[in-house]
Amino acid sequence: MDVLTALTTRTSAARLGDEKPSREQIQQILDAGMHAPDHGQLVPWRFVVLEGQGIDRLGNAMADAMRRNNPAATDDELDRLRRKAHRAPLIIVVAARSVAGRIPEIEQIVATGACVQNMFLAAFALGLGAMWKTGDAAYDDGIKVALGLEASDTIVAYLYLGVPLLMKPMRELSAEPVTTWIS
Ligand SMILES: Cc1cc2nc3c(=O)[nH]c(=O)nc-3n(C[C@H](O)[C@H](O)[C@H](O)COP(=O)(O)O)c2cc1C
Repeated sequence: MDVLTALTTRTSAARLGDEKPSREQIQQILDAGMHAPDHGQLVPWRFVVLEGQGIDRLGNAMADAMRRNNPAATDDELDRLRRKAHRAPLIIVVAARSVAGRIPEIEQIVATGACVQNMFLAAFALGLGAMWKTGDAAYDDGIKVALGLEASDTIVAYLYLGVPLLMKPMRELSAEPVTTWIS
């Protein structure tokens, strides 16, 4: 698939199957992330690849966070959250770990967003389905630490990956209403 086709036809997966992407596919996706524009070549991102018990660990950490923040949460609510982590057979957590110095932190977080988009497009070009999620789980220090990250890291994406069972519909989008030309 050529780049322009991938860029203009990409959609998120709405549902993913149980079959795991291969190690080779995951490596290609991670390598695509590494090629994101990176001011100062700081490599300000970290990847945590979750599968099997790794996904259980995320689900349990999400439930622990909910219990901490809302002691009245019911067992059903906690179980629903644990199951949410199992929407994909494999998840890549992408976090920005900013390097102190002349490159502003915002640029390092933006670069990490570009890294996620590279990975998303690589997955799409490989015929895989991807979902980019954040939610409360991106902002909880306990979850970060449970995943081996640092509390000061910024989780930019939980990239859920798998074989697509259902894709979101493509949208008709035009840049016209958000573009100003100054000639
Ligand atoms: C930084 C970021 C965080 C997101 N977090 C969520 C999320 O937590 N839950 C969700 O349903 N969609 C989330 N989305 C949006 C979806 O990933 C998706 O892009 C959007 O629903 C549009 O669908 P499309 O990718 O098929 O165009 C997020 C997108 C970005 C860029």
